Amino acid sequence: MHFSHRHLLGIQGLTAEDITLIMDTAASFKEVSNREVKRVPTLRGHTVVNLFYEPSTRTRTSFEIAAKRLSADVLNITISTSSVVKGESLKDTVKTIEAMQPSIIVIRHAEAGVPQMVSRLTRCSVINAGDGSHEHPTQGLLDMFTIREKKGELKGLKIAIIGDILHSRVARSNIWGLIRMGADVTLCGPPTLMPIGIERLGTRITYDLSEAVRDADIIMLLRLQLERQKNSMFPSVREYTEFYGLKESHLQLAKPDVLIMHPGPINRDIEISGAVADGEYSLILEQVTNGIAVRMAVLYLVNGR
Ligand code: CP
Repeated sequence: MHFSHRHLLGIQGLTAEDITLIMDTAASFKEVSNREVKRVPTLRGHTVVNLFYEPSTRTRTSFEIAAKRLSADVLNITISTSSVVKGESLKDTVKTIEAMQPSIIVIRHAEAGVPQMVSRLTRCSVINAGDGSHEHPTQGLLDMFTIREKKGELKGLKIAIIGDILHSRVARSNIWGLIRMGADVTLCGPPTLMPIGIERLGTRITYDLSEAVRDADIIMLLRLQLERQKNSMFPSVREYTEFYGLKESHLQLAKPDVLIMHPGPINRDIEISGAVADGEYSLILEQVTNGIAVRMAVLYLVNGR
């Protein structure tokens, strides 16, 4: 199969075949991280630039590790010590980076649509590492990869996505991908954090956490994104936790082999109890591990198209 995309801007633009190809490629790269010498020559001679206008632990470091395991040179641009603080525009920053001839720019930005705009400014491949509340495609892909690894396939699984759907780029990427792969997706959260019309994407909506998790194969929690909420959209964090925080008692309602996911970082004991996050059903750290293989696959596929 052939990957026809020069950029990865969102899961919305991918077919089921594209998603399967990325997951299959990630499966073959996963073995590299178990070798004594964790490196293959696939991207030797290429440079990957990580341009993050927002904080990140998981995504930035795993793109760096993924690129290094493919033998690429990696440049991390820290916005706080760059000429952005002197007022340099996004366009001039991208053009300056492009003049140094990298192959791939990985970008995270607080504004939705910035990776799309950057892809029109440069000859480099552009990978969206999260744009505002729009998409976080590599997170969605690593989540689907992790589910497929555990459950065999995505088709027909009952997946509950719980929390701050309105502000979550992770939720949007997962909804596009999971629906395309044939999963049955239920969204749950306070009505004020549920985007109007989201059910048109093919999801079910409930405002009742117990109903959402009943018979679920996968429960995916989202971080409560207090930094993106200009006005308080629920009475208090304590009340949010009471109604929408996942606790051990909820797991009895789900399938006996239910698995718990969270993209991180977690607000411990707010959207998920510490006992569930650290418990036997949790995949949170496996998601982080799989992020490297999935990002190796994406770097390889956009570069070699
Ligand atoms: N899941 C995720 O995007 O985490 P970071 O913000 O740490 O990259």
